[in-house]
Amino acid sequence: MKKIEKKEKDILVLAIESSCDETAASVVRNGREIMSNAISSQIAIHTKYGGVVPEIASRKHIENVNGVIEKALKDAKITLEDIDVIGVTYGPGLSGSLLVGVSEAKAIAFATGKPLVGVHHIEGHIMANFIEHPDLKPPFLSLVVSGGHTHLVKVVDYGKYEIIGKTRDDAAGEAFDKVARAIGLGYPGGPKIDKISKSGDAKAIEFPRAHVSGAPYDFSFSGLKSAVLNYINSAKMKEEEIVVADVAASFQKAVTDVLVDKAINACNEFGFKTLAIAGGVASNSGLKKAMRKACKSNNVEFVFPSPIYCTDNAAMIGVAAYHEYLNENFAGWNLNAVPALKLGER
Ligand code: KG4
Ligand code: ZN
Repeated sequence: MKKIEKKEKDILVLAIESSCDETAASVVRNGREIMSNAISSQIAIHTKYGGVVPEIASRKHIENVNGVIEKALKDAKITLEDIDVIGVTYGPGLSGSLLVGVSEAKAIAFATGKPLVGVHHIEGHIMANFIEHPDLKPPFLSLVVSGGHTHLVKVVDYGKYEIIGKTRDDAAGEAFDKVARAIGLGYPGGPKIDKISKSGDAKAIEFPRAHVSGAPYDFSFSGLKSAVLNYINSAKMKEEEIVVADVAASFQKAVTDVLVDKAINACNEFGFKTLAIAGGVASNSGLKKAMRKACKSNNVEFVFPSPIYCTDNAAMIGVAAYHEYLNENFAGWNLNAVPALKLGER
């Protein structure tokens, strides 16, 4: 009876995301329609330091969170009263950053008496795919490639995941960021490598494609990162010219070859007909091009979010919160930030 009532009425989620360096809030209707998507990015501040400084990130979140929520409600042309549920990222991420969003969400839920839902950040990334693909539904395979995670995940049902592989060391986005720093492109590295790769030769340098023995769906990117550093050091010692665009393009190809290979093998082995990529690296143009081609020749439908829904945002958290709400996974007043939260854990 309760579930039927929920379906008859529109459910509006106010979602808050503050796990890293973006303070974001969004209003999402019925888990698919984005009524607003407000983001206050800290990239300009952290660029000065070459990466995210956690203490600064927390302080910026606390300054910006109310303004971002106000904007999300205003853009959606609603007030807090219209909201049915408050959703918030509670892990994984930087603890100080997560605590700002969690405290804010708890305060709003307490003051308004609305239900509170805690969302796993990676679940949000995966669910970003529902926003622009109304027909997408589980089961499907997802490749999550962000700054902190590289996971191959069976999406068995809404909110039900099985991890079949993950990185043993660096995440894909982390490798992009570290290599970008080494070749002088600065922070954030992924978009910069993506851009400059377009004018480089991906076959110029043969970097390794790492495979983990005995674990066909696990990843390892630290060897590749070292290979790029070695290449640069040796070129400098020999006083050879370093063509940054070629290094970037060859590195990007080495990462994407491995991502495409493993994702397609997993689709074939487990019989998935749909592959959805997610996370900041999912906006990489080289990855999308290679994945599209491989999916086509393997008869797999390829799904990916627009760049704005790949990198951190609150709309994806609102989508995930809606499904947690339908599953009646409500959070109590003891909801806390869980910096190392695993996917599938509560
Ligand atoms: O998902 P995300 O916004 O935050 C985390 O949850 O980590 O991912 C950020 C990561 C960064 O490492 C960034 O360099 C990478 O995604 N990234 C990209 C691109 N855009 C963002 N990597 C490759 N190509 C891109 N176009
Ligand atoms: Zn993220």
